[in-house]
Amino acid sequence: MAVTPLVELVGAGYAYEDGPAVLSGVDFGIAEGRALVLLGRNGSGKTTLMRLLSGGLRPGSGTLRLGGADVAYDRKGLVRLRTSVQLVVQDPDDQLFAASVEQDVSFGPMNLGLPAAEVRERVDAALAALDITALRDRPTHLLSYGQRKRAAIAGAVAMAPRVLILDEPTAGLDPDGQERLLDVLAGLRAAGTTVVMATHDVDLAVRWADDAAVLTPSGIRTGPAAELLSEPELLASAGLRSAWAPVVGAFLRARGVLADGVPGPRTPEELAALGS
Ligand SMILES: Nc1ncnc2c1ncn2[C@@H]1O[C@H](COP(=O)(O)OP(=O)(O)OP(=O)(O)O)[C@@H](O)[C@H]1O
Ligand SMILES: [Mg+2]
Repeated sequence: MAVTPLVELVGAGYAYEDGPAVLSGVDFGIAEGRALVLLGRNGSGKTTLMRLLSGGLRPGSGTLRLGGADVAYDRKGLVRLRTSVQLVVQDPDDQLFAASVEQDVSFGPMNLGLPAAEVRERVDAALAALDITALRDRPTHLLSYGQRKRAAIAGAVAMAPRVLILDEPTAGLDPDGQERLLDVLAGLRAAGTTVVMATHDVDLAVRWADDAAVLTPSGIRTGPAAELLSEPELLASAGLRSAWAPVVGAFLRARGVLADGVPGPRTPEELAALGS
């Protein structure tokens, strides 16, 4: 029996005011515990899809389901959705608005009406998870871009969502910042949060994701990331380059360095380790 996705769009369509349909007839679910990556060209609808899944936009047709039940777009329904699904938007400046990091991160939990002690606990934990405890009292507008990204993610983490959706979280981060973010996401996943991210970085997608969803002009293709992201036609239709890892894996298998069925290296470090 198929497991009910945590959150799911069924036959969903969306068009911005006076615009053409961005998405139509979309069936798309987020399965608990799976690392899911969303890929597609600029303007293909990744951000729109994420906003539909997190309740920022309401589908023009079709439905959004949370735990199998249709989401009601009233206050109660939206609070329930937002405590389950949190979106971190592409640009941290669209997300941060409070004067200090602590105020910003505590806004969501406070708005849920949680007791002050629990708000404090959640904020402490979120700041620690993102390694920005030292920035607690800093004005958000004085933070660097990478620090603002972290603060924005901390705000979503403090809501303790079951699903955390991140819109291009690694864009604009330096390589070390990207690695540290991946560590943060691994920690969240280990603690039971389901993580979804949009990215244009196919190598990151292959390395990080269990599943991939690729937005193409003919619809959304979903499946295991390693398989989907080895399909040249699919990648081309989504304006993506080939990932290195599947090509390296195939090369090593053809040369007998890797046995069939053994997963190939996904990072330069894993490739180097094969030779040692
Ligand atoms: N607020 C808006 N009003 C009108 N049209 C919009 C709005 N936001 C997005 N669109 C349009 O909807 C389509 C999908 O945009 P969306 O932002 O979802 O794409 P995306 O896949 O996230 O792109 P990118 O990779 O550039 O972030 C685009 O054609 C875009 O111009
Ligand atoms: Mg986008």
